[in-house]
Amino acid sequence: MFPITRPRRLRQSDPLRRMVRETTLTVNDLIYPLFAAPGTGVAKEVVSMPGVYQLSVDKIVEDAKEVADLGIPAIILFGIPDVKDDDATGAWHDCGIVQKAATAVKEALPDLVVIADTCLCEYTQHGHCGYLQTGDLTGRVLNDPTLELLKKTAVSQARAGADIIAPSGMMDGFVQSIREALDEAGFSDTPILSYAAKYASAYYGPFRDAAESSPQFGDRRTYQMDPGNAREALKEVELDLLEGADMVMVKPALSYMDIIWRIKEMTNLPVAAYNVSGEYAMVKAAALRGWIDEERVALETLLSLKRAGADLILTYHAKDAARWLSKN
Ligand code: PBG
Ligand code: ZN
Repeated sequence: MFPITRPRRLRQSDPLRRMVRETTLTVNDLIYPLFAAPGTGVAKEVVSMPGVYQLSVDKIVEDAKEVADLGIPAIILFGIPDVKDDDATGAWHDCGIVQKAATAVKEALPDLVVIADTCLCEYTQHGHCGYLQTGDLTGRVLNDPTLELLKKTAVSQARAGADIIAPSGMMDGFVQSIREALDEAGFSDTPILSYAAKYASAYYGPFRDAAESSPQFGDRRTYQMDPGNAREALKEVELDLLEGADMVMVKPALSYMDIIWRIKEMTNLPVAAYNVSGEYAMVKAAALRGWIDEERVALETLLSLKRAGADLILTYHAKDAARWLSKN
């Protein structure tokens, strides 16, 4: 007890603090999201996400080079298609926007890991993550027919060069279906990063501007999880493990750090956390007003996610964080 015990002894200098630091953030922990859009020479900033752009494929390649030069190991690709339809054609077509972007990035940067987000909401007219019953205005996506589209999407993304398939639609059985489809198509070495515990969250607002993927009616609460549930997240992870997931994700990150922790305790698979658009927008908005120090807040946030158990962090701050980390 005090005065014999004085925890401050180990805090009195930077080298001492470095010696006893339990958690560190490195560039290897980061994954940078990119939004691929049609056209050439296009870079359109997302109003609610300063510093984030919709980029045509040529610009995606430029940005990916920057990402690779910073030492960030991976990007995740989202797509804004030319046309949206009921079958989400843009998601699974071999000439789809994510497929084109994946191929172009892998050609230019074979060592950069390309993760493909595998969902349908960006590609359907109604903005839901799968098929709807004709006339449905509530958004209760039909699970099993949607799996067929997800299988086609995943295989086509892998064929285009995607290194990791990341299904994000919260359909039951999507990991198993995609695993089977990938294996059948000869992609048994392509890992699946499952959005295992994805909550129906208001923090996705700015992303839906970026990806132009807002549901036109209803909401996603019949497939994404209820924010009140924690044990259900463990059940989702358990199922994904059995279905063959290689990594699991929690999304959003900050309001769900208890979930990250509990999942980390229960599984030996790598755990990813998605520091989502609304989390980014809040930091940016306050920083732009000079109310907080963006660098310190962002690095503290990312470090805290690691401390909570995240092995990997998807974040719009990835490039900034890489720069800040190399400077510090
Ligand atoms: C949907 C999807 C969402 C995000 C990525 N893919 C959420 C949604 O619209 O329901 C959110 C990412 C973010 O907010 O940064 N499959
Ligand atoms: Zn979706």
